[in-house]
Amino acid sequence: MHPYGSMRSHGAGTLRADHTDATVTLAGWVSRRRDHGGVAFLDLRDASGTCQVVADPSASAALAAAHEVRPEWVLQIHGTVRRRPEGMENPSLATGEVEVAASSVTVLSPAETPPFPLEGGVEADETLRVRHRYLDLRRETPAHGLRLRAQITSLIRRVMESHGFIDVETPMLTRSTPEGARDFLVPTRAGDGVAYALPQSPQLFKQLLMVAGVERYYQLARCFRDEDLRADRQPEFTQLDVEASFIDEEDLYALFEELFATLWREILDVELATPFPRLSYDEAMRRFGTDKPDTRFGLELVDLAAVFADTEVGVFRGALDAGGVVVAVTLPGGAALTRKQLDDWVDWAKGRRAKGLAWGAVEDGEDGPTLRSPLTKFMSAAEVDALLRATGAGVGDLIFFGAGPATFTRELMGALRVALAQDRGLIGPGSPAEGRWDFLWVTDWPLFEWNPDEARWDPLHHPFTAPREQDLPHLTDDPGAVAARGYDLVLNGTELGGGSIRIHHPGVQQQVFDVLGITPEEAQEKFGFLLRGLAHGAPPHGGIAFGLDRMVMLMAGVASIRDVIAFPKLARGYDPMTDAPARVDDAQLREVGLRRLPPQ
Ligand code: AMO
Ligand code: AMP
Repeated sequence: MHPYGSMRSHGAGTLRADHTDATVTLAGWVSRRRDHGGVAFLDLRDASGTCQVVADPSASAALAAAHEVRPEWVLQIHGTVRRRPEGMENPSLATGEVEVAASSVTVLSPAETPPFPLEGGVEADETLRVRHRYLDLRRETPAHGLRLRAQITSLIRRVMESHGFIDVETPMLTRSTPEGARDFLVPTRAGDGVAYALPQSPQLFKQLLMVAGVERYYQLARCFRDEDLRADRQPEFTQLDVEASFIDEEDLYALFEELFATLWREILDVELATPFPRLSYDEAMRRFGTDKPDTRFGLELVDLAAVFADTEVGVFRGALDAGGVVVAVTLPGGAALTRKQLDDWVDWAKGRRAKGLAWGAVEDGEDGPTLRSPLTKFMSAAEVDALLRATGAGVGDLIFFGAGPATFTRELMGALRVALAQDRGLIGPGSPAEGRWDFLWVTDWPLFEWNPDEARWDPLHHPFTAPREQDLPHLTDDPGAVAARGYDLVLNGTELGGGSIRIHHPGVQQQVFDVLGITPEEAQEKFGFLLRGLAHGAPPHGGIAFGLDRMVMLMAGVASIRDVIAFPKLARGYDPMTDAPARVDDAQLREVGLRRLPPQ
């Protein structure tokens, strides 16, 4: 195929000074038109970039045509490349040294006036942009996102295949796979009351591929989860999904450190330091109050149980006596915050269902640093002393205190830490963290977490994660003490991926189901195909899945995965372009055995 298609000789964005005097044929969209009557300038855009076209009276038909065209019309241009006159070069454009003097201008397609401007970097309303996503994608940033994504998937395939992984497709029409979200159901005319579920992940299929002897599987797999939209969540998203046999955690860490180092080197020209640091789940929760710590800045949590062991501060005493924690976050220079700013942070905490948020400003006193705080009158000098030592806070700093149940309070203070970092410009555009890529493995997860609302154990990853061998006896006597062979990869505070070594004995699998309250009958009904597979010679195996959209989002430096998905969905899964999800008519419903409920 001709490199630019037989209707063109060159890509508009490829012309340079050494093309001077070449006769060229271009085709593309008018991104801008400046008409000076006697001469018209058109910026012509195609997938390769933009080039300036000039029509003047020396080609009067071309000039007449150029007078007529409007932004986003599709044109074919014949002309000659020439250097721009001295002083008229545009250094911000790759083609800025040259222009094309048009000998003819042919309109291939006129276009309606775009509903929002495509040039100039102004962000129009997102619903409007997604409704006309075919126009939005003509803009440089989203267009770049798509290209970057393709470059990333191509490199992923190269690295995975160099290690003997083969790409296997797994079904979209299947049974429910539990990843903790709601299923999308696909009713069918196969029978009354039956429906397929779209996969939340290919988890069970990839495990069965291991039973099948595939040994090294990968897939750029579409996954479906009916959950609420967020900047890093879509109801339909893509995973780099991986599974391998006869491996352990270290094999996977090494493989993905190589993959990410390759991606960053070849795409961003950044040399990542490997191996990536590792942090246990427990340490992540204690130091950062989250299982996905952003380690690009300090403000770490400090546990104050020892400092306040004998405290008379009511909220601290209450929390500690109830088996909870008192946790501090120190904001350097924060003593200068106004009363209004402090009240705003207290309101911020209350907005997250905290009972309150206490604070203390470290000030210069007559005999060394003192604490200015609503709580000071209940604190002994020895406590203040121990507090300053534990937190490392000095004069001018501010200490925030959270007190309450351990997990809730740590998560609250972890969120406060990130919010403070954003507020103070420690992360974000132009911050000292810019250009930092803090990859981090989070390891040593518990297998289960207690769900107090439902009074039952829930899996922290999914029910197929292997317990640590030495903890097997605790499955029956102390499930909370069982460690999992699971791991997550975190990048700059975003969970990029997660996985585990799996259970490969049907007996252990049933023991885990027992803890989760899944009876053998239920297990057979829901996961019988997995249990039968495991009984037919399952190799020890494990794997991981990464959010491809999140990976591209972080590499592109954009704020939402919607920016790197060709046709994303908005709140409540709505697609304003196709107007999906759409109402189905009664006949269609009847065909799949469904009837509309009367309106509520
Ligand atoms: P998990 O549920 O952690 O694991 O998903 C793996 C990764 O997929 C990405 N991700 C999402 N991205 C965009 N929108 C969503 N709604 C969404 N949900 C998840 C995240 C996440 O880290 N089967 C297991 C993996 C395994 O054990 O091998 C699984 O799906 O980046
Ligand atoms: P109270 O005793 O509720 O009036 O609270 C006294 C101070 O402690 C106020 O500054 C509250 O904002 C703060 N506070 C209350 N509950 C908590 C809590 N769980 N953690 C931290 N500070 C709290």
